[in-house]
Amino acid sequence: MFITNGTLWKDTSGQPVHAHGGSMIRVDGFYYWFGENRSGRKRVSCYRSANLRDWEFRGDVLTLDSPFRPMDIRTDPKLASGDESGTGANIERPKVVHNPVTGQYVMWMHWENGRDYHAARCAVATCDTVDGDYVYRGSFNPAGHMSRDCTLFVDDDGTAYFISAARDNADLHIYRLSEDFLSIDEHVKTLWPGQYREAPAMLKRNGVYFLITSGCTGWEPNQGKYAYADRITGRWSRLYDLGGPTTYDTQPAFVLPIHGAETTSYLYIGDRWDPSDYHRSSYSALPLEFPDDRTLVLHWADAVHIDLHSGRVETRRKQSGLWRIRNGSHRYLTPGGEGDNRIAARRLSYASLSQLWVLEPADGGFVRIQNRACGRYLEPQQHNGAAEVALAERSDRTSQQWRIVEEEKAGWCIIRNRLTGNVLTWNRNADGILHEEALRSDRDGRHAQRFLLTEHYGELPAM
Ligand code: DGJ
Repeated sequence: MFITNGTLWKDTSGQPVHAHGGSMIRVDGFYYWFGENRSGRKRVSCYRSANLRDWEFRGDVLTLDSPFRPMDIRTDPKLASGDESGTGANIERPKVVHNPVTGQYVMWMHWENGRDYHAARCAVATCDTVDGDYVYRGSFNPAGHMSRDCTLFVDDDGTAYFISAARDNADLHIYRLSEDFLSIDEHVKTLWPGQYREAPAMLKRNGVYFLITSGCTGWEPNQGKYAYADRITGRWSRLYDLGGPTTYDTQPAFVLPIHGAETTSYLYIGDRWDPSDYHRSSYSALPLEFPDDRTLVLHWADAVHIDLHSGRVETRRKQSGLWRIRNGSHRYLTPGGEGDNRIAARRLSYASLSQLWVLEPADGGFVRIQNRACGRYLEPQQHNGAAEVALAERSDRTSQQWRIVEEEKAGWCIIRNRLTGNVLTWNRNADGILHEEALRSDRDGRHAQRFLLTEHYGELPAM
């Protein structure tokens, strides 16, 4: 039985699974999946599965109406933000672990007022059963620090750590939790100051700790990275790239170890946020590979088969042959609209076929760049004295042929026209359409004339 990545997953009643930025915990033969749900007054939903494919909805375990019980430390007791509507407050990245001392399930998460990201607080909720109604225990700044994207990690010796982005996301902090997992004992480590890492997910294998993180680009995917250490509070390695330049259009949510009779596999679970429609955000489960004890590798897989008994994971992959072309401002080349030959740069949408391009080989290593939705090709055309690049019917003209010259940074390239020798240029100061100009080496040129080519992974969007 295969899981299909890059698609919208449904629960056993046919509803979309809303468990974004989540976490999983195994209890009595079931995997319980907790994650964000932003519909109405819901905040955290829970699903469970015995096979990691069929997800039964278990309830909205934290809502704006959840009960509150004070803790020993001072917190803001309200889950709702208290504005006039009383419906604000965003909960992000809820993570649940079991505390063996109190017997409680403890959820840590990121709290914001629903309007902006300035509060930067963590929050805690608890429950006596894994999928019951969680009691909200309040939000606060851990050890006085800002706290946004976060995760929990329980070490083999039972010590729990809360890891979260501090100082406006510039640094990543590791805090050791109290024995009951309800408060911070100590801020034990600051990682990679000034490197702006988000979406932390930790795992431990053969005594080595790995921390996977993303860059900091809102809902847009970026290059995932990992680092390793022999002790959580010791020296961590530098950051190494993980996966492709957009981590296959995902951002880390958590890593799930699958302990089988033959082996232990580690599944990377990533969110594929849809920046155009949060509720169309999906998930991908990809097995991490370990060429040696300190190296992590992540490949895309369209389908993943998990043998829970042996612990083995099998994958299938097909090349889509379709590409997105992104400019330096995280916008994607998209035809202007019905009957419009001009090219605009729009926000990423996984539902949009018109953001996908075919690179059709021509001779001499050149390619024609065809839009998958309308079937027409990129070609410079004179418009009001400027060389705009627009869509045209296929021809043998060399002006329809381009050379993709890769830059040093993975995936980034300049796209040079065969006839004119000029390069694709996104001029954000002009009229918001695509041009071609002579290659510039200044800073502005670097920004306007470099594009990121990323392959499309997953099923094809409808028109
Ligand atoms: C990236 C974070 O990882 C998400 O959890 C969310 O906070 C978005 N940023 C908001 O832009």
